[in-house]
Order: sequence, then C-alpha cells, then structure tokens
Amino acid sequence: MCGIIGYVGYRDVVSVILSGLTNLEYRGYDSAGIAIRDDGEIKIYKTLGKLINLKNELEANRAQIHNPTSGIGHIRWATHGSPSIINAHPHTCTCGRLVVVHNGIIENYKELREKLVAKGCKFKSQTDTEVIAHLVADEFGQTKDLELAVRNSVKKLQGAYAVCVMHKDVPDLIVGARKHAPMLVGVGNGENFIASDTPALIEYTKRTIYLEDNEIAVVTKDKVKITDINGNEVAKRIEVLPWEPVALSKLGYKHFMLKEIHEQPDVIRNVLNGKLYDIEQPIILGEVKLNKEILKSLNKIQIIACGTSLHAALAGKYLIEDFSGISVEVEASSEYIYRKSTTDSSTLVIGVSQSGETADTITAIKQAKEKNAHVLIITNRPDSNMARLADSLIPLNAGIEVSVAATKSYIAQLISFYLFAIHLAEIKGSLDKGYLKNIKHELIQLPTKIEEVLSDTSVIQSCARKFSSYKNFIYIARGINLSTALEGALKLKEISYINATGYAAGELKHGPIAMLDETMPVLSILIPGGITYEKVLSNCEEAKARNAKLIALTSSTDKKLDNIFDVVIRIPQVTEILSPAITCVPLQLLAYYIAEFLGKDVDQPRNLAKSVTVE
Ligand code: F6R
Repeated sequence: MCGIIGYVGYRDVVSVILSGLTNLEYRGYDSAGIAIRDDGEIKIYKTLGKLINLKNELEANRAQIHNPTSGIGHIRWATHGSPSIINAHPHTCTCGRLVVVHNGIIENYKELREKLVAKGCKFKSQTDTEVIAHLVADEFGQTKDLELAVRNSVKKLQGAYAVCVMHKDVPDLIVGARKHAPMLVGVGNGENFIASDTPALIEYTKRTIYLEDNEIAVVTKDKVKITDINGNEVAKRIEVLPWEPVALSKLGYKHFMLKEIHEQPDVIRNVLNGKLYDIEQPIILGEVKLNKEILKSLNKIQIIACGTSLHAALAGKYLIEDFSGISVEVEASSEYIYRKSTTDSSTLVIGVSQSGETADTITAIKQAKEKNAHVLIITNRPDSNMARLADSLIPLNAGIEVSVAATKSYIAQLISFYLFAIHLAEIKGSLDKGYLKNIKHELIQLPTKIEEVLSDTSVIQSCARKFSSYKNFIYIARGINLSTALEGALKLKEISYINATGYAAGELKHGPIAMLDETMPVLSILIPGGITYEKVLSNCEEAKARNAKLIALTSSTDKKLDNIFDVVIRIPQVTEILSPAITCVPLQLLAYYIAEFLGKDVDQPRNLAKSVTVE
C-alpha cells in the first residue's frame, strides 16, 4: 500500500528510483510519480496505472532529462481522492519549488487545508498529502531550513505518515520523517537512499537504519543525520538486511505467487530449523519468554490478526486448545480495537502478521500492551513495527513474499502455531509424550508430502479449467480445516474475483443450502481417520441432492468418492490435526490456476495492497 524511494548519489537517479518502485510494486498501487533534481530544476513526471506507464513517460521525455543528481519516487494506493494523475504523488507547494511524497493518512488535513487556503495556498489535488507540501513550504519560507521546516510541520500533523521532501533551493538533500508508517535509510558509499520498505533498496545496499516514530532523517550523498522531534541527534545502529536481491526474482515461474507456493516445503524446513531438530527434545523457541511461572497465571489467549493471518490464527486456536487446554479467542484486529476487550495482565495476546505493518493489528497490539498483556508477535518481518512491540517473537523466516496473495507466509504461520502449541503442551505437560513425538515426527515429514502435491498438479489444473467459468463457490469443512476452507475461498476471491465463501460444513443446512443448484460448486475438505470425515461427507450428499457440482479435497483413497464427486483432488495421508498444512496447498493452486485461466493479474490483484498500513 503505497511505496516511497528517495535517492541522492552518483548512479542514474531515474533508474535507481524506477527499480526501487518496481521492487515495491507488489504492495499494490494505482498511480506512480517521480520528482528529480536536474539542471537545478525540480522536474516531475506522474502517470496513472502501472509503472510501465511512468517508464514510458520518462522515456518519451528523455530529451528533457540531462543529469539528475537526486530524486524521490512514489507509488500511490488511493485513499483520499480517486486514482488520477493530479492526485498521484509527488505533490508540490503553490510555487512548485517543494515536492513531497507520503505514505499514510493525515487525519486533520481538512482543518490544515482551510488554514493554508486562507493564507493563499493554491491546492491542486483532493489528497490529504498536499497539505504537507504547503505546510512545509510555509515553514521553509520562514526558516529557510528544510529540516526545521519538516520538523515544525510534522508536529502539526495528526495521523500516520512516512514522508520525503525535497526543495529546489536545497540541492541534493532529502528530508524524511515518519510516524506510524515505516521508513528506513539505506546507507551507501557516496550515495544514500531513503525508502518505505527494504525491497526498494536491496539491489544497492543491505546496510539500513530504521527510523522510529517522530524521527527525522536528513540524507545527502555523503551523510545521513537522524534527529528526534526536538532536533536532538540520535545515534542509530546500522542493520544488515538478511535478504539477497534474488528473493525478488521469479526464478522462471510465470508469477511470484506460483514461485512462492512452490517454495513452501523449504519454508517449512526453515521454520522448523533450530526449533525442532530431534523429536526426543523439546521445541526451542528462543525469543518466546513464556516460562512456567507466566503460564501458571495465564487464563486466556487472544489472537489478533487480519485476512489470511486471521485464518492461520483460527487454526492456531484449534491447536492451542487441543494441545494445552488453554482457552483461546480469535478476533479480527479491526473488531478488537473498537470494543471493550477483556484483555488484562493475565492474558497472552498473540499478533499474527506477515508484514508486521498492518495498521489495525498494530493498534490492537498497542491497546493490549496498555492493558499489560504479554504480547507475542508471529511475523515474517522481525524488523517491523509490530515486532518492535513484542515481548515474545516467533519470526517466520519465509523470505520476502512478493505476491499480494499470501501463501508461503500462511504456511509458515501455521507451522509456527504447531510449534507454539507443542511448546505450551511441553511446558504444561498437558499431552502424552508419545503423541507429541508422533506429531513432531509428522511435522518433519510435511515438506516431503507437500513436494508430492507440487510434483503433479494436473488434477488441480484440469479442475481449475473445468470450473473457471463459475461465478460462485462454496468451500466447506469442519474442525481445524474450517480455517483452510475460509482461506481457500479468500484466495479464490482475491485473485480471480469469483465470489467464494467458506462455511463450517454443519452450517450449510442452516441457510446457505438455499443457494445450492447446478451453478454453485461445493468444494469440501475430507480427512479420513479424524472426527469430521463422515459428517462432511453427509453434508456433501445433501449438496449433491440439490444438484450442486462437488469437488473433494481429500487424503482418502476410497474409490467410492469418485462416484460421488465431480472432481477428487487427492493429497498424501496425514493426521487430521496436521492436515491444514497440506490442504491449503491445493487450494492455493486451484485459485492460482483459475485466475491464470481467466487472465487475471495474479500477483497484483485489483484494489488490494500487500501491506495495509491504514485503518
Ligand atoms: C490475503 C492477504 C491479506 C493479508 C492481510 C493481513 O492473501 O494477504 O488478507 O493477510 O491484509 O496482512 P498481514 O498478515 O501483513 O498483517
């Protein structure tokens, strides 16, 4: 959701900014823009739609661009004002000498805008961002000091911002500031960068400085200075990014989503690495600080998350309750933050987030911390804002996930919940040791079983082809795979725009059954050996009696199923409690192939953003 890169240095400024924006593209956006300092002037280029349009625009204006020495670029996901060239960033002040790019939302922009209009400022766009340009220009007019002008201005802003500012009269200097939106500086030799996320920098430098809320960075080609909101210089640590640029390559796959689905066996191995290495030994979760003492006083766990992470949380609830007997509530972050919660100091609050930057979850976690709850964060970004709030942490180690639709981060979240639930059971002594050993053994086998699923996707592909013209789907399951049904339906919705709804299979007859006919395929998850198999099968028979087309996702080898179902997608044998880590994979693939047959933009579905940094 929006992306920023700023650059001052010796390289081709336009190329650095375009490649930085390309590496942020996965976040989702509807327009793009760039401002460069060239021949002592600030030149701005903005386009609607994909980055290719901006590239073409710059190419068309090549003759006017000579030797730029610095610049800022932005991809915008519209919040205030429709997607349009006028609303695209960078925005300027009235005289056009100052340019601004911004991620986040300025909540008091209307009131600021009125004051600035009264002072004579001429607004061009409908955005909240434009007030920042006029505000800083106004301050600069008085102080002639860009850093001070930004500092004085951000003090007047309410809401969230990561902002970068350049001024024609202050050559090759970028001022960045942040509050409730990520921003970091990339440190180079004879060049420096500023960006909203690490992929923008990784091709050029791995040395980064993360800004905290209310900090201000002044970046020139030779120097980076970070100050607090009062202007005091802050000594910051340079951190080295663990990722290689290759993480941003499709490696021959048609889409990042397909590549990321195929990475899942290795992702599981990575998550298990160092935590579960011997089934005879307890699970090691180094950054989880829950000892027996804390556990004794614990009377409740609350898991807070959004979207796909919320579905992993639902599986986590089943696991934790099953393995440890501790009662678990799961709630969407956006709901948690607007009601009187029962969180207190004897609650463990678990925040689950791929990005670690989801605004609703961050707010929820902050609220939980105010109530003195112990906060455990499960995230793929140990460098994120959320991770910084954590008392305990489980890093996912899934590697950067580029496709907007989450896949490998979901499986890493599931595996983290298995490890955590076993860890609790081991501390509490709540499960039979032999049973735990079997579960651990099966966990270690999971990557091989998923490799088996991935080695032959022909049934899934033909199912996708057969059903790609249907407009509605129902996904059903019971027990722990309800989370998989919800997640499978979400995947289909997100990337194919087909209406798909997940239901607890037993709920079908309480309403949704009214929708069933030959136009409504029902996909069901059936894992034999568990407690739900026969029940779900009966629900499928009920659907068949209403002429619904049936798809089974099952580990059963029973040939009878081929007579009942129109398509049977088979997966390897797996214990029901562990099955979500396998059943999710064919559903990701089914969604992928349906979207691919329909010619959809799989990696960057419309209206979606990878990291939802606004409430
Ligand atoms: C779905 C998807 C979203 C995210 C949700 C939460 O494929 O990616 O539903 O899961 O926006 O994001 P995180 O996990 O980053 O907090």
